[in-house]
Amino acid sequence: MVPALLRRHPCAGRDPVIHMKAQNSAQSRVVMTEVVYPSHTNAIDTVFGGVVMSWVDIAGSISAIRYCGKTVVTASVDDVHFIAPAYKGDIINIKALVNFVHKTSMEVGVRVDSENPLTNQFRHIVSAYLTFVALDENKKPTLIPPLEPQTEDEKKRFKEAEIRRKWRLERRKLLGR
Ligand SMILES: CC(C)(COP(=O)(O)OP(=O)(O)OC[C@H]1O[C@@H](n2cnc3c(N)ncnc32)[C@H](O)[C@@H]1OP(=O)(O)O)[C@@H](O)C(=O)NCCC(=O)NCCS
Repeated sequence: MVPALLRRHPCAGRDPVIHMKAQNSAQSRVVMTEVVYPSHTNAIDTVFGGVVMSWVDIAGSISAIRYCGKTVVTASVDDVHFIAPAYKGDIINIKALVNFVHKTSMEVGVRVDSENPLTNQFRHIVSAYLTFVALDENKKPTLIPPLEPQTEDEKKRFKEAEIRRKWRLERRKLLGR
């Protein structure tokens, strides 16, 4: 008998013997802190978008690796929104969590907040969704454990990410890619 925690993998239609232990997203949680130094700023003295993107990619990839315990690569970055600027001297808090898992890929949601240490003002500055693909030792996509969302919030994030994946696939199809 298959233990309760073992779930049919999304691939099971093709290969019904594939079962992997379902996981929840808690183990993928990442909290990363940076500081905006002069070398991180642009011509108007706010943080340069590319620097924030790099922090987002690092936090997202650590989250994906924590989830699946494998090497991962960034496959795509969707819905990057630069909501507010951050300034020299601000502390930057970056949070990442796996929202959704398919067969070899997973979506990670990343949220970035700035913190002015002198005024204690916090601001949500960036949000993004990234897709990472797990690779095996031959650098080929490899199966990862299915995600079993537990809380209402996790279920909502899972559903929304599933919709974004559908949109991504439909868009690729429409564009013939
Ligand atoms: C990402 C990559 C491994 C996918 O390889 P591939 O041979 O196209 O793989 P497949 O077509 O078998 O797809 C594998 C998975 O990747 C997903 N995928 C592929 N391209 C994707 C894209 N552009 N966006 C989101 N997901 C993508 C597929 O949906 C599939 O997911 P699933 O198994 O969960 O259903 C490959 O395109 C690659 O190596 N890209 C370069 C990655 C890189 O260098 N990143 C920057 C540095 S980390």
